[in-house]
Amino acid sequence: MSTPVSISFVKTPKTKSDTAVIFADDKSRLLPSGATLDKKANGIISAALETRDGFKGRHGDVIAVFLPKGAGYKQALVVGLGDSSKLDVLTLENLGGKTFAALKSISAVQACVLFDVDKKWRLKEAEAAAAYASGLRLRDYNFDKYKQGNKKKKSGDGVNTASLKEISIACTAGSESAKTYAAYDAVAEGVIFARDLVNEVANVLYPESYANILAKELKPLGVQIEILDEKKMAKLGFGAHLAVGMGSIRPPRVVIMRWNGMSGASKKNGKGPLAFVGKGVTFDTGGISIKPAAGMEEMKMDMGGSAAVVGLIRALARTKAKVDVVGIVGLAENMPSDRSYRPGDIITSLSGKTIEVLNTDAEGRLVLADALTYVQSIYKPRMIVDLATLTGAIMVALGFEYAGTFVNDDTLWKQLERASEDTGEKLWRMPLDAAYRDEMKGSVSDLKNLGNQGRYGGACSAAGFLEHFIENDTPWAHIDIAGTAWWKTDKPTVPRGGSGFGVRLLYRLVVDNYAQ
Ligand code: BES
Ligand code: ZN
Ligand code: ZN
Repeated sequence: MSTPVSISFVKTPKTKSDTAVIFADDKSRLLPSGATLDKKANGIISAALETRDGFKGRHGDVIAVFLPKGAGYKQALVVGLGDSSKLDVLTLENLGGKTFAALKSISAVQACVLFDVDKKWRLKEAEAAAAYASGLRLRDYNFDKYKQGNKKKKSGDGVNTASLKEISIACTAGSESAKTYAAYDAVAEGVIFARDLVNEVANVLYPESYANILAKELKPLGVQIEILDEKKMAKLGFGAHLAVGMGSIRPPRVVIMRWNGMSGASKKNGKGPLAFVGKGVTFDTGGISIKPAAGMEEMKMDMGGSAAVVGLIRALARTKAKVDVVGIVGLAENMPSDRSYRPGDIITSLSGKTIEVLNTDAEGRLVLADALTYVQSIYKPRMIVDLATLTGAIMVALGFEYAGTFVNDDTLWKQLERASEDTGEKLWRMPLDAAYRDEMKGSVSDLKNLGNQGRYGGACSAAGFLEHFIENDTPWAHIDIAGTAWWKTDKPTVPRGGSGFGVRLLYRLVVDNYAQ
């Protein structure tokens, strides 16, 4: 993790900054602080707004203007707000993200945001400034640890040599904003941890090293960590998960993370913890049913579900959320070798149900099946959410914009839908149906890991398979994030690569609905 740009809140603008960020409304009129700066700069900013075509004051429009001596800053970045009555947490976060990208592109080093809030805004100043800062923070990410001499780039190679160091946000609610921002910052830390894990390469991140990282990073925050190695897993009967990991020289692991934030009295309400389960296939070659070569390198992201769970636990611990949560991640590397599981093998899952393996590339559901059984038998959770880069079929259905969400409980769906709207991590409800469940029943075994319909409805039959492992109608959601865990283009608050999708969503779900 490279050092993040420092973000602070101040009452009076910092004078040593080289760049001022100011805002314009949807009529391209500068807000008061910007107008004052414009006067100081002899009207050069308003002149630029009038003459340059690109800037219309729409949400996220940006324009940079060099300032004359005496203006106090070398340059101004004007950011369009669009319709300011529409500004909410999400749109302000996006504005922050776009501001961050623009500051980078104009080589700002120290920037000061002159943050004005108008009566028309829905949010109070402290909330608005904190949300905006959250967007800055979320966009501040670059997986560059393997680039040598990153700090000493040759000049003339087209890469910015100056680097952004500090952004101060000047607003009257300075210290209150800082307080509100602290929680956003903790969640962003979880998101960035998740991105780092997803981006990490599979020769460095494999089940054993992954488990060690989790212990090292989360224990100091007060998270209880338990690691099941392959011997323990065999003793307990993780037959499905072990089968997936068999082909690799790097043995599988299960990591259980517990955040117990509830105080003693309310622990006795008889309800179990919330459970989050993540697919952590550190590399998916497909195994003996091997994948095509083109694009296989992306399969280092096949642990994106686990990364979301880990990021959530980190955010909950950092904010000391008053809630009891158990996170469980099933880690394995799916490799072809002389020790691999084969198509046709019949394996016995932890639940006792036998599964005929028809395709070794449908491995995620096998790993999840055992993790689901384990978490239910040990922790009796009051609800379960699993996340997994489970199927290519969900990308056929929804592309890269929405994660497919299969839920057996309408209340849980409502909660997820709300969290999704609040965070912009988009979910689309998909069907659970007895027909999909039945499709996964075996002829020579209890279940099989492939449906009958070829590629059709592959995400639905995968969910149908998982449903066989949910006991007593426990409220459960399965979120297929194959399309959203990895982004090919930059988004306002998410640079390309591992997205950390799910962390913000789950954090809101937990804190808004289940925390004391
Ligand atoms: N990890 C893949 C799914 C995936 C594909 C994630 C593309 C991210 C991007 C999963 O293990 C898989 O291979 N699924 C198969 C299932 C099939 C064999 C039933 C698929 O989707 O093709
Ligand atoms: Zn696979
Ligand atoms: Zn996979």
